[in-house]
Amino acid sequence: MDIPVSIALIPGDGAGGEVMAEAIPCLEWARSRGREVELLPLPYGAEHFLATGETLSDSAFADLRDGCDAILFGAVGDPRLPDGRHAEEILLRLRQGLDLTVNLRPCRALAPGPGPALDIEVFRENTEGPYCLEGSTEPGRAVDLAIHTEPAVRRLLEAAFQGAAARRRPLTLAHKANVLKHGHGLWLRVFEELRKAHPEVTARAMHADALLCALVQNPGAFGVIAADNYLGDLISDLCAAFIGGMGVAPSISWAPHRPFRCAALAEPVHGSAPDIAGQGRANPVGMILSTALLFRHLGWEPEAGALEVAVSDALANGAKTRDLGGTHSTAAMGKAIRDRLT
Ligand code: NAD
Ligand code: IPM
Ligand code: MN
Repeated sequence: MDIPVSIALIPGDGAGGEVMAEAIPCLEWARSRGREVELLPLPYGAEHFLATGETLSDSAFADLRDGCDAILFGAVGDPRLPDGRHAEEILLRLRQGLDLTVNLRPCRALAPGPGPALDIEVFRENTEGPYCLEGSTEPGRAVDLAIHTEPAVRRLLEAAFQGAAARRRPLTLAHKANVLKHGHGLWLRVFEELRKAHPEVTARAMHADALLCALVQNPGAFGVIAADNYLGDLISDLCAAFIGGMGVAPSISWAPHRPFRCAALAEPVHGSAPDIAGQGRANPVGMILSTALLFRHLGWEPEAGALEVAVSDALANGAKTRDLGGTHSTAAMGKAIRDRLT
């Protein structure tokens, strides 16, 4: 018998919990097809913090790091905790502590439509840049450091080149090395080195400001976009707008060098959506497609593909939540997708 794959479930806050509720039956469906999977639901998030004072303790982090294979994450963020400390101590700690350098945020048209098919993959560095959270606020002056290290930059770019080569797509690096001479200078130098090592990939570097203009004007011309943590965050939300908005965009992060047992975290691109949380309005598609990315990461390609087809088919047949102009609740959308799984 296979050793079960152990997946920690962290719904988090607001809409995170609502969309997680629609992903869990997809994991159970994979199990019903013979996948050995053990699910570990965990309470970390605003409610748990307010009740216990714990965000993610050192021992809870170590248990995740050494005791599970992957994490499925909803979202964190709560209006009662405006400084976002719990989000930092849970989500950023997991990304950074587990060394999950590569964050893949694919953006593909979900249902057939007019115009050229969109097929963009954003490879976002997931642990560094300004997310190192080093800085200071002084009278009349504020500092946010952005730290970029060559191993992480190299890991992210290597993954982006491999992704572009595998799918025969052009690769574009987003940077601002014209201003950020040190940090983005490093990105450009490693990019040029890898470009020479990967002649099979059509690769170019673009200033991020010009890239955004070109991306909006002609998204079909882009394939893989590689970016640092900060630019990648912004570019991936823009790309989500091409396919229907925040509710449908998936992501997965991993550590290509796999320093720990827990080497992947899948989560939708969106946050806890406090404006619609608790109303059954959140679109579960981003979360369910993130679950599909996790299946693919685990080598469960048939289940990943079937889940993606079920999402496209449900949407093409008119199942839509309100953000996409429909009337389905979160639960009804989840069911419409699951009803297409065999
Ligand atoms: P958000 O992604 O939560 O919401 C932005 C907009 O998108 C809102 O109008 C919201 O209603 C809509 N939206 C988001 N998810 C949706 C879904 N599943 N279905 C339909 N519509 C959806 O971003 P925000 O409002 O800037 O942030 C809210 C909180 O979430 C903040 O605390 C923020 O820090 C946090 N956040 C967390 C994550 C994460 O956990 N990965 C990501 C982004 C934001
Ligand atoms: C995301 C979010 C996070 C980020 C926040 C909540 C820290 O916007 O996952 O894209 O900036 O990475
Ligand atoms: Mn973001």
